[in-house]
Amino acid sequence: MFSPRFSLQSEALNSADADVWAVSDRAHQLADKGEDVIFLCVGDPNFDTPEPILDFARARLGVGRTHYSPAAGEPMLRRAIADIESKVSPHPCSPDDVVVFPGGTNAIYAVLACLLNPGEEIVIPEPMYIGYVPICDSLRLDVKKVACPPENNFAFDVEAIKAAIGDDTRAVMINTPVNPTGAMATPEQLRELAAFCRERGVWLVCDEMYSMITFARRHTSLRTAAEHLDNIVVIDGLSKSHAMSGWRLGWAVARGPLVERLIEFAGATIFGCPQFIQEAAAFALEFDTYFVKQMREAYEKRRDLIVPRINSIPGLSCYSPEAGMFVMVDVSQVAESGEAFAGALLDAERVSVLPGAPFGASAVNHVRLTLAADEAELSRALDRIERFVTAGSRQAS
Ligand SMILES: Cc1ncc(COP(=O)(O)O)c(C=O)c1O
Repeated sequence: MFSPRFSLQSEALNSADADVWAVSDRAHQLADKGEDVIFLCVGDPNFDTPEPILDFARARLGVGRTHYSPAAGEPMLRRAIADIESKVSPHPCSPDDVVVFPGGTNAIYAVLACLLNPGEEIVIPEPMYIGYVPICDSLRLDVKKVACPPENNFAFDVEAIKAAIGDDTRAVMINTPVNPTGAMATPEQLRELAAFCRERGVWLVCDEMYSMITFARRHTSLRTAAEHLDNIVVIDGLSKSHAMSGWRLGWAVARGPLVERLIEFAGATIFGCPQFIQEAAAFALEFDTYFVKQMREAYEKRRDLIVPRINSIPGLSCYSPEAGMFVMVDVSQVAESGEAFAGALLDAERVSVLPGAPFGASAVNHVRLTLAADEAELSRALDRIERFVTAGSRQAS
């Protein structure tokens, strides 16, 4: 008899908590039955990829750019990414510093797989992007979480991160702007943390997936802020900024020996991303600031619609995120937890939001609302949320 046995890596993934998406899965089941559900749970841009990028990709398909490509990435794209980095940074970036991956997730996976062994410690501030959990589970990393609490608007806390770095720490992974909180690290904080990590022989990985969706102030990359580059890695991609989530295009920027390791890893696991997609990505980076600006402004308008509305509902509160595609709502006055709120809101009003707990203990009393819905949809959702909260407080009184 054959009884299936799997690797420790697969078992680690399989045993991980699976109910992150429980409310959202239930919302999809209701929608499939024809119910009018409003989805405010995903971070997938609700814009189409800009037409000129589509045209460029079609043209490249038309000339046969459908073959294998170098593991490190197409030269044209590596150059476009390096040029973007060089424009803003005191450290010139060479195409040789860039490795292309199919999406930010894969870039993060490759970087952590090259830097850490199973059982080794990585420090990560929370609330953190949900996607880090399966990556760290699968690589069997020992994750030491650092709380960035709501009392401080989830602000990036360098001192707390520094305090968490011990003799066993191999790497620190940060995310700025942060999904889910929209908090941003300042250039000074990044510089200080990079220097501290370097002094202690620790890698510093920075996920900058929302670098182009910032509102009041511009994002500063870790690569721009840091004095020395040998212990740092920056990850970015086009999923959010260019509404290209389904194209699967991300990258890592690093130095010398790590770049070599990443190329080897990409060669073994991916063997090159599609040529026409990489060339369209290079086009997007070189020519497409107009569309990026339009989308960024739309997210900002939506934020400015949501935040005062939430704060006008007795019992709910939120702060105005500096960046990104999400608003974190404190529901502690009206529900036992974010999870209880999200479940009951779906039951009563058919609005799907994500509970905060899977992002980290600091977010347990929060729910995350996405800005990836148009203003009319957001207004409709907020009407329902208001009715839900008001009905709840009437029942309680
Ligand atoms: C902070 C953060 N990093 C990485 C990713 C993954 O990006 P990609 O969709 O390119 O894999 C996401 C996606 O939501 C994210 O929010």
